[in-house]
Amino acid sequence: MRRKNRPALIAFAMRTLSSIKTLQKILQPLHGRKRIGFVPTMGAFHEGHLALMRQARRECDYVVVSLFVNPLQFGPKEDFAAYPRPITSDRKKAQETGVDLLWTPAAEEMYPSPYRTFIEIEEITRRWEGAVRPGHFRGVATVVAKLFQIVRPDRAYFGQKDYQQTRVIHQMVKDLHFPISIRILSTLREKDGLAMSSRNQRLSPAERAAAPILFRALQKAEALVRKGARESPPLLQEVEALIRSEPLARLDYAALCDPKFLEPLERIQKGAVLLLAVKIGSVRLIDNVLIDI
Ligand code: PAJ
Repeated sequence: MRRKNRPALIAFAMRTLSSIKTLQKILQPLHGRKRIGFVPTMGAFHEGHLALMRQARRECDYVVVSLFVNPLQFGPKEDFAAYPRPITSDRKKAQETGVDLLWTPAAEEMYPSPYRTFIEIEEITRRWEGAVRPGHFRGVATVVAKLFQIVRPDRAYFGQKDYQQTRVIHQMVKDLHFPISIRILSTLREKDGLAMSSRNQRLSPAERAAAPILFRALQKAEALVRKGARESPPLLQEVEALIRSEPLARLDYAALCDPKFLEPLERIQKGAVLLLAVKIGSVRLIDNVLIDI
């Protein structure tokens, strides 16, 4: 066991590597003996990512983090090229958080040419992010299945911030019989409520000031439900009106859905998830809240 007060640097040395073979060689003797925790990421680490790593550190014997900006989950007009890649500071943050192994696979090794195998999850990928970003969840599911297959973790950690993604992963793990326990951690936010995201860096100062409108809209909906509101249409109208009141914001969608299959609800009965996607300038932000009643 690592003692709490030791400085991070001498407490452990994090390995960084990209080769799939080398990774598997290191992990092979650990399987079945040590609990392996896995955090898949696309880098540009913020506190949200680090919270997943910390949780994995607390619960597992060996923590693997993958850093791979997955080309397959970006549309042709999306920000793959512009996605931030601060590898030196990422390595430092992972090391300080107690990660054992930072794996940075290369696209050529992940998708050797010709590449022909893809994972498609039906129904829950049809709406919301899936509708706005065709092919996105096919890319996410394919890469996560491959990462799971290579790392073979006992537990894998995801953030509630990408709510539909968590449902897609749950469905895939169930359908493909991956023996992996999926842990979902709540969304980490800035002081003003903005959900942490690698994309927040791309907001101009004025856009950054406008961005907490998403959180305010979620809070407003929660407050209305607490006061007894149950019908979706008037609730969504309030949310939409608040988003419209912010000149830099353009609503992509606001939806009240059942938390499992993400089908729209006319009326909140047992609980619901409110999904929100808003463009602030050219940056697209998503957020959500689980509404328990
Ligand atoms: P990425 O956007 O880097 O996010 C990695 C993980 O961090 C995801 O599980 C995401 O939900 C979580 N996360 C992001 N912001 C968070 C926040 N504010 N609070 C808590 N958790 C947060 O999501 C992806 O990468 C990719 O799609 C991936 C799963 C790695 C597949 O390529």
